Amino acid sequence: MSFVLILIALNAWCGLSVQASTDTLSPGQTLTGDGKLVSSNGKFALGFFHSKSTSDNNHNDTSRLWYLGIWFNQIPKLTTVWVANRDSPVHGPTSPLLTFAADGANLAVVNLATNSTVWSTQITTQTNTTTILVLLGIGNLILSHGGNTSNIVWQSFDHPTDTLLPGATIGLNKVTNETLRFVSRRNSVDQSPGMYSMELGRDGAVTMYYNSTLPYWSSGAWNGRYFGNVPEMTAPDRFAYTFVDDDREMSFAYHLLDGSTMYCLLDVSGQRKLLAWHDANKVWMPVFTNPSAHCTVHATCGSFSVCNDNTRPSCGCMKGFANADLDGNWDPDERTGGCTRNFPLDCSGNSNVGLGGDKFYGMSGVRMPFDPKRVEHAASRRECEEACLGECSCTAYSFGSNGGCSVWHGELLDVIMLGNDGGSTNSGEILYIHLAAEEFQSRRNHGRAMVGGFVAACFATLCVLLIIIVIVLKVRRKRRKLQCNTVNDNRVCSGLIPFKYRELQRATRNFSEKIGAGGFGAVFKGLLNESTPIAVKRLYGSCREEKQFRAELSSIGIIHHTNIVKMIGFCCEDNKRLLVYEYMPNLSLDAHLFQKSAPTLNWNTRYQIALGVARGLAYLHESCRDYIMHCDIKPQNILLDGSFVPKIADFGMAKLLKRDCSRVMTTTRGTIGYLAPEWISGVAITPKIDVYSYGMVLLEIISGRMNSHNDYNSDGDDVVYFPVHVARKLLKGDVMSFVDHKLHGNVILEEVVRVCKVACWCIQDKEFDRPTMGKVVQILEGVVELDMPPMPRLLEAIVAS
Ligand SMILES: *[C@@H]1O[C@H](CO)[C@@H](O)[C@H](O)[C@H]1NC(C)=O
Ligand SMILES: *[C@@H]1O[C@H](CO)[C@@H](O)[C@H](O)[C@H]1NC(C)=O
Ligand SMILES: *[C@@H]1O[C@H](CO)[C@@H](O)[C@H](O)[C@H]1NC(C)=O
Ligand SMILES: *[C@@H]1O[C@H](CO)[C@@H](O)[C@H](O)[C@H]1NC(C)=O
Ligand SMILES: *[C@@H]1O[C@H](CO)[C@@H](O)[C@H](O)[C@H]1NC(C)=O
Ligand SMILES: *[C@@H]1O[C@H](CO)[C@@H](O)[C@H](O)[C@H]1NC(C)=O
Repeated sequence: MSFVLILIALNAWCGLSVQASTDTLSPGQTLTGDGKLVSSNGKFALGFFHSKSTSDNNHNDTSRLWYLGIWFNQIPKLTTVWVANRDSPVHGPTSPLLTFAADGANLAVVNLATNSTVWSTQITTQTNTTTILVLLGIGNLILSHGGNTSNIVWQSFDHPTDTLLPGATIGLNKVTNETLRFVSRRNSVDQSPGMYSMELGRDGAVTMYYNSTLPYWSSGAWNGRYFGNVPEMTAPDRFAYTFVDDDREMSFAYHLLDGSTMYCLLDVSGQRKLLAWHDANKVWMPVFTNPSAHCTVHATCGSFSVCNDNTRPSCGCMKGFANADLDGNWDPDERTGGCTRNFPLDCSGNSNVGLGGDKFYGMSGVRMPFDPKRVEHAASRRECEEACLGECSCTAYSFGSNGGCSVWHGELLDVIMLGNDGGSTNSGEILYIHLAAEEFQSRRNHGRAMVGGFVAACFATLCVLLIIIVIVLKVRRKRRKLQCNTVNDNRVCSGLIPFKYRELQRATRNFSEKIGAGGFGAVFKGLLNESTPIAVKRLYGSCREEKQFRAELSSIGIIHHTNIVKMIGFCCEDNKRLLVYEYMPNLSLDAHLFQKSAPTLNWNTRYQIALGVARGLAYLHESCRDYIMHCDIKPQNILLDGSFVPKIADFGMAKLLKRDCSRVMTTTRGTIGYLAPEWISGVAITPKIDVYSYGMVLLEIISGRMNSHNDYNSDGDDVVYFPVHVARKLLKGDVMSFVDHKLHGNVILEEVVRVCKVACWCIQDKEFDRPTMGKVVQILEGVVELDMPPMPRLLEAIVAS
């Protein structure tokens, strides 16, 4: 008791520095260390936080960077929404000091080590009444006269960083032309301003810029209910908007109608995301993402990289380049740093001499880089190449089918791996990258290594006995592995073959034939024992513990089903993790549905694919001891064998990579309607998430087109949302209008209607309205009849707009 009293007394004595949770700071008071202001509703806190300096690898206390900021007080993951001194962090082991001048005029952050002010509110107007600093419940820090919230001297909402909170405004002052600009941070560690910004323009649209000048996305003008290119904004019962357009200002704000926790962030990768806190999974989930395709953001992967919206991470390096700073702690999507050259160029202009000289590596199926320069005098590919060869600054050239030579100097930006939609006009063009001769010598080195190996083998023959012993031991060990050593852990191997990295390297001829770039790694074709074709997936990241990796594999290694790709084995060697699967000669469904050149799949095949995928998913959800959610059902993950039997690929990734379902999705992310609504509403994720995605896949199978457009051509108002169209037509009884026209009407109408109904039931808002996959199988088999589904409410709202 008395101890408490002493504490209280001490507290009162130190009253000048705020310790207890309060939402106000009065003139003369200071804030430092763990001291913080907490808004009266408990939602937001203001105080000092620190991140580790990127320039220091051993992350010790002296490498801390201190910032004054506001964050969500009730979210376990530090999420800052405003930072005062983002350009001028304070380095050092201890927190700086926030001072509130005794005259009530200015707020300042002082670096105690140097006694210098690193940030202040810089208010110049003289005031005679005392001002008070209050952190409001909406996350706004205000300096007001005598605590009167409508008599504000300064507020953090007028000095935004990268976050637009509900209730805050984005806008411009029409008299002074001042705009509220939101600028992304450089990366998740460094809070200083990055290259991306957004602001509301006089045209009434929110525009996003690179380096303040190059626009890469526009929301479309406000039409009274939503911004033209963002019809998802009309999602029911969630948001209300304020749009002001008068003589003095134009401004926009959004408000949440339910108790959810959301905020809008211009993130490091240049996308604007409305994020919702998903409490069951403890993650922020994107509700809207603009632009929805990550690769559309200018320079988002940095220089000399290739962006692919169908993989995660979406950024990879071009041949001959490697990641400049791959620090495992960073979000793999934050790749704006780009890639750097492995070997310097020779630039002698001499490509024909055996050694030395530079060469070109041809890349096809990509969108050409940003900002080409035309070379008029080059009339052939050869001349175009020569124009590039002699110059060190020339990094690539391409010779177009329309007869033009283009070269690039300096960085190569915005190279995008084109999907299988075949919609691109220049998909036939090849980009030739200027590389040092060393890049092409790996084969020769390989040869040398083989000679070395041969010599070693000769030497080894002298020790025949030893070799025999080694072989015997090895065979024994391998046999033991294959038989699942029940002594240690009977779930350890499940019949999967543990491969040596060298074996897989040989089987894939040093990973030379890439057949896909799925989520989490590239896939290569290989031959096992010179005869059995296999697909080898090289996962990103390293394998630290083989035992652990095996244990994780055990639950997915036991899965055997006709409609699920069979896993044959794996490899785990220090910095490599690989999975070996049976090879599927007809590759993935997306190529057959969306590629213009592919032969059309007939209706019966499509129906059998729909049924097979349903059976595979039902097995994953219902027949395994431990149910498995796929989390990323989409045509790219449905492979076809020689007789077009579908096989689900990439299952079990959430379990294997110990990741949340949200983090194994590589589907177009963050668009209401394409993602199941439970991602947004924050309830726990169940296998019904796969049912929703399956419904989306069915629509794509029926129509032969992608539900979501990739908005590579930012022409603006082309926001066609196919599922909405289908649901509407289905209810009107007009299904034939959206059946793939390549089928020329050769379909069984009854089956089309059945598939449409299933699809529409699968994409219902409420997960318990959706059928289980087992039920879907019965319906497609014709065992169970199905009622007409209601219009999914979320989609209905989008139609209405
Ligand atoms: C911490 O880092 C600083 C430089 O950033 C270095 O001088 C110091 O020795 C390091 N301390 C420890 C304990 O590693
Ligand atoms: C810090 O600087 C202020 C004025 O800039 C001065 O009044 C004060 O004495 C200095 N304090 C220390 C500890 O150097
Ligand atoms: C503030 O008070 C001083 C005298 O105390 C007076 O001279 C000055 O005019 C006042 N300023 C304002 C803005 O009221
Ligand atoms: C707060 O300030 C506004 C505008 O300056 C004024 O109209 C109002 O009377 C003030 N309220 C109080 C309680 O002082
Ligand atoms: C603001 O911009 C408009 C059009 O861009 C221009 O006509 C006007 O003169 C500008 N006003 C100021 C104060 O710069
Ligand atoms: C950004 O723009 C400025 C001026 O417009 C220019 O000097 C600078 O080089 C640009 N930076 C990049 C990375 O494009």
